[in-house]
Amino acid sequence: MTEVQLDTEALRGRIAAELTGARERTAQLTGCVDEADLVVQHSPLMSPLVWDLAHVANQEELWLLREVGGREPMHPEIDPLYDAFEHPRSERPSLPLLPPDEARTYGHEVRGRVLDLLDRSSFSGSKLLGDGFAFGMIAQHEVQHDETMLITLQLRAGAPVLAAPAPGLAPSDAARLPAEVLVPAGPFTMGTSTEPWALDNERPAHTVDVAPFYLDTTPVTCGAYGLFIEDGGYDDPRWWTPAGWEHRLRAGLSAPLYWSFDGGAWARTAFGKTEPVRPDEPVLHVCWYEADAYARWAGRRLPTEAEWEKAARFDPATGVSRRYPWGNFEPNASVANLGQEFLRPAPAGSYPAGAAPCGARQLIGDVWEWTSSDFMPYPGFAAWPYREYSEVFFGPEYKVLRGGSFAVSPVACRGTFRNWDYPIRRQIFSGFRTARSAGAPTA
Ligand SMILES: [Fe+2]
Repeated sequence: MTEVQLDTEALRGRIAAELTGARERTAQLTGCVDEADLVVQHSPLMSPLVWDLAHVANQEELWLLREVGGREPMHPEIDPLYDAFEHPRSERPSLPLLPPDEARTYGHEVRGRVLDLLDRSSFSGSKLLGDGFAFGMIAQHEVQHDETMLITLQLRAGAPVLAAPAPGLAPSDAARLPAEVLVPAGPFTMGTSTEPWALDNERPAHTVDVAPFYLDTTPVTCGAYGLFIEDGGYDDPRWWTPAGWEHRLRAGLSAPLYWSFDGGAWARTAFGKTEPVRPDEPVLHVCWYEADAYARWAGRRLPTEAEWEKAARFDPATGVSRRYPWGNFEPNASVANLGQEFLRPAPAGSYPAGAAPCGARQLIGDVWEWTSSDFMPYPGFAAWPYREYSEVFFGPEYKVLRGGSFAVSPVACRGTFRNWDYPIRRQIFSGFRTARSAGAPTA
């Protein structure tokens, strides 16, 4: 969707396609394992997959059938089981959850009624319906759970159940790319007041003045990260914040999650397969503390969230912030690695057609990028449509990640999209790039 209003039929078609695409991926992620795998908890950090399966249906029923459609609850007794705030993930396996076949049937019934509702909807009469927002919110919710379920399948032990093609090689100019790009000084528009399906924390648009800085052209690679390890980066408290060092000791961190040192070289295990670490691939599964320590070791720092967004969106030629680094058109396979098409990031320097005006590549897709910023509301923030989406998470406990990973679908990924997590988390598809203030010496 562009900021130009789509007509009702086109909007209806887009919503149906997004909902259907999300459900197809959900079906693949939950159909590739057997029933026992669906109900077991693969990690205390994650829900059993069967919880996600019924939870997406329950949220869809709640927001679309009840709030928008005014329907009575289909199965009110199950609502508390699938309320993410009532039961933390660790508790969910002990709940009387719907078994897989019933969860699928429930999802199917809800979806049938939602598509009927969509057919009749004129997308007017309430703020929730305007621009199809409620439908867009539910499509984004399901693909976010598709990413969560992929994280669960990565944590799962056992033989591989998922296969995907490998992304292509880096383009021929990747080796000649400058290590960093300059983002010039000046104000830019951060956030949005016009993106129809933007969530509350992305709003409203506001002006932020950003001092000039340099940003890595690509995410930090496994090869570069390997040098930090080799140089004793994990053993030198100088590079770590006090909290980071304490966590590094307590958790025994010595390499990214899923890495092992085998036969004199690093290997990584992904979705049940172990293979040599690829030096040109963006590093994945590092926590904020590791990213921050690496940056300090490299004589640099993590970018702030505002710096990241300015690098990704600001077009100095027009003075306007774009929807995406490459412009205003929706992501496609030539500009970004999104949507679980590949189950790994593409080599650093890929997607020249997706470069931002500043020259940085892969800002959208591949890996979520840690920023130095805490998750805070923008000036003028208003919780909508519910406080639990963002507002209850604001504060210094959470760090912001930007850009989206290979695991998130385009519908839930844009230049303004904000993700957040605890600085110790690394089961997520997280990487980073580094920055330095202009005028600060090069390391
Ligand atoms: Fe959810």
